[in-house]
Amino acid sequence: MVVNLNMSKYSIITLEEVSSTNSYAMDNIRFFDDKTVIFTSHQTDGRGRYDRKWIGDESENLYMSVVIKPKDIENYPFANLTQYLSVAVCSFLEKEFNLNPKIKWPNDILIDGYKISGILAESYIEKNKIKGVVLGLGLNVNLPFKTLEKIDQKATSLSVIKNKNYNVETILEKILDSFFENYNQFIKEGFIYIKNEYVNRCDFLGKEITIKEANLKKNYTALSIKDNGLLVVKDELENEIEIITGDILCTQI
Ligand code: BTN
Repeated sequence: MVVNLNMSKYSIITLEEVSSTNSYAMDNIRFFDDKTVIFTSHQTDGRGRYDRKWIGDESENLYMSVVIKPKDIENYPFANLTQYLSVAVCSFLEKEFNLNPKIKWPNDILIDGYKISGILAESYIEKNKIKGVVLGLGLNVNLPFKTLEKIDQKATSLSVIKNKNYNVETILEKILDSFFENYNQFIKEGFIYIKNEYVNRCDFLGKEITIKEANLKKNYTALSIKDNGLLVVKDELENEIEIITGDILCTQI
């Protein structure tokens, strides 16, 4: 069932429940305008990066996908969109909840080492050309401890941190404010526009890290973030390597 709020300054399609807001957006993308937001508080089959599941339960939580179909496809900074969203969510969490969020490259958001938010971007391709992206965000708002325990990595939620429940629609609106506040500038300048803020949120730089890509795990020292958002690491033989995809599994402090 589709419920339209229509009280927002954004174009939001609210679904009472859906398997995945990303799947819904991808399946229907040709009908949606640029910047349409698909939102639900109950997602039954949420998807994460690398075919992982994104866990939800009966509690009201925040699952959203923004449809990005820019007019100027050629110059659009698609590669850094998830990093831009991660910075926007961090500033929202800091401003509204007085938290100190950190980013685990490329776009996981952690509070004291516990993941509170994940981002999944999926490309919409026609005739071998990228036409747009569905930018999905899951934020653990009211997930209780018993559900978080089932997640295969350390995870937390706002309700566990603050010991109270929150209205997810209000949070959605504020996250969209944070996302769209500097969006036009980001599109113009790309990653360089958020680089300082992004790097300041990364607390793994200079540390030993393990990166997993597909099923391969490798140890490196994290060195820096480049102007295009790529991670530069050093391997055991002191070779510098640019990491394009993958997940940081753990940081040895
Ligand atoms: C990750 O950390 O692996 C990414 C998780 C992304 C989850 C969000 S929830 C809303 C949207 N719909 C999905 O099925 N996935 C994304």
